Amino acid sequence: KSYSVAILGATGAVGTELISLLEERHFPVAQLRLLASPRSAGTTMTFAGENIPVEPASERSFDNIDIVLASAGGSTSKAYATKAVAAGAVFIDNSSAFRMHPDVPLVIPEVNPQAAATHKGIIANPNCTTILMNVAVYPLHQVSPVKRIVAATYQSASGAGARAMEEVKAQAQAILAGNTPTTEIFPYPLAFNLFPHNTPLNDRGYCEEEMKMVNETRKIFAEPQLQITATCVRVPVLRAHSEAINLEFEQSLSVAEAREILSQAPGVRVVEDFAANYFPMPIDASGRDEVLVGRIRQDISHPRGLELWLCGDQIRKGAALNAVQIAELLVAKDLLQPSEVAVV
Ligand code: A2P
Repeated sequence: KSYSVAILGATGAVGTELISLLEERHFPVAQLRLLASPRSAGTTMTFAGENIPVEPASERSFDNIDIVLASAGGSTSKAYATKAVAAGAVFIDNSSAFRMHPDVPLVIPEVNPQAAATHKGIIANPNCTTILMNVAVYPLHQVSPVKRIVAATYQSASGAGARAMEEVKAQAQAILAGNTPTTEIFPYPLAFNLFPHNTPLNDRGYCEEEMKMVNETRKIFAEPQLQITATCVRVPVLRAHSEAINLEFEQSLSVAEAREILSQAPGVRVVEDFAANYFPMPIDASGRDEVLVGRIRQDISHPRGLELWLCGDQIRKGAALNAVQIAELLVAKDLLQPSEVAVV
């Protein structure tokens, strides 16, 4: 059996990756519809050796579509999700629009595949930093419950889209040429700089990105009381995100046990060579499917604490790959038809 798939936001950083992943992973595509804004009308993109026109998204774009993979921002998802579901499609959404909605499962296939079975037409793909952290932390949490997570992120430009990646390159060129860099997408120059994540702050001084890590992890782990705090920072890296994670367990978990668990964990690759001081780096994680984890060590400030460091391709596992894995899960478990439809 094969399926009609639409990519909403096909021309973006994540959309482009979605197209290659469908091809690379031999997803059973009967028909592929590429949707973007009216700006992209008239362009074509290649899938499986075929040139496919990019169409401006409209309410009629979802007729006869089985699966929508959406990555065109929250307002575009809000505009089309209900219409796509009414037309009979499952809407797998990369935006944050529906992630915390009680009728929308928030799914990482390696962590909570069972949640996908409860969908009512819309399934949300978690935030990129949340996905990367959860893929590494959940296998440990299953063996030895985690009490508290303290995360610091080093997030690449790709999280703000394809144009943001170009902006950083242009800023670097400007600086190297002795000119003042200009900014359009980011509020400050990112090249040769870094700044705390530029999402809106709440009244306690936490930015949206940090609160996504807190709230989404609680929902994915089904642990509403889990203690989590995060500091999210943008760094001048193009594609992969890095994270320093401190974990406090209820019972102590040894470094050796944690390393053993992570070396068996799905979607994780342990990369560490203490002798050579070689650990995960964003350039090594870029273009790869696994979350690279290393520097697993005892927290010297806490007997039940562990430290770890990870890098993951935010466009792949942090976004496009996770969405395609959700589609694969729906197909494998025959979950495309919802029992009822969510009202969002
Ligand atoms: P377009 O290229 O036509 O602007 P990124 O996250 O890399 O910036 O990509 C955003 C994606 O979302 C692009 O494919 C973009 O299309 C698409 N997009 C933005 N606004 C809309 C809209 N109103 N309707 C459909 N697609 C949109």
